Amino acid sequence: MKFFVLGILFVIAIKGLFVFFTSICVPATGGAIFTRTHPSMIKKILENIKLEPNQVVYDLGCGDGRFLREVAKRYNVRAIGFEINPWAYFLARIYNLFSRAKVKVVFANFWKKKVCDANLIFCYLFPDVMRKLEKKLERELKPGTLVVSCNFPLPDWRPEKIIRAAFPYNDLIYIYQFRP
Ligand SMILES: C[S@@+](CC[C@H](N)C(=O)[O-])C[C@H]1O[C@@H](n2cnc3c(N)ncnc32)[C@H](O)[C@@H]1O
Repeated sequence: MKFFVLGILFVIAIKGLFVFFTSICVPATGGAIFTRTHPSMIKKILENIKLEPNQVVYDLGCGDGRFLREVAKRYNVRAIGFEINPWAYFLARIYNLFSRAKVKVVFANFWKKKVCDANLIFCYLFPDVMRKLEKKLERELKPGTLVVSCNFPLPDWRPEKIIRAAFPYNDLIYIYQFRP
């Protein structure tokens, strides 16, 4: 009984921390809360892009860093993530300890970071921020840079491809190549 009660308290504490960290981040995230891209979606994305070793990949709002680890393992790229939610950042750092992938996760607001050297931008954000993101990418990216957005399109860009993984993780994934 004692362990049961302690277990319940532990779960409540974890959920409380999640809600607390998510709410204090809202001014920066604009509603893009910490959820994870399903592995089958990541697999699908990696099958549909081509990268060379040592190219630079950013995940803008990297969550627990799962996309970065997979892309680094598959293509041997330099994978960098920005994450502002302390809980997600903490998880990313822990998972990275147990991964052979070389991934850098930075506790930062990606709106304040330059991504000019990117070869691939990955994001899974929220509709409210996609127009602002589009403008940032137009200012900073070099021609030819790949951009992959899960679930939410960049409003004025035309995707090269729209793909989806198998049901039930079949949200749309938009793949762009930046052409100024
Ligand atoms: C939907 S989750 C996606 C996580 C990860 N990219 C994935 O696909 O599994 C969005 C993440 O972006 C982070 N985020 C949103 N706005 C951010 C910002 N301005 N700077 C850093 N991280 C941000 C959130 O904290 C959240 O963890």
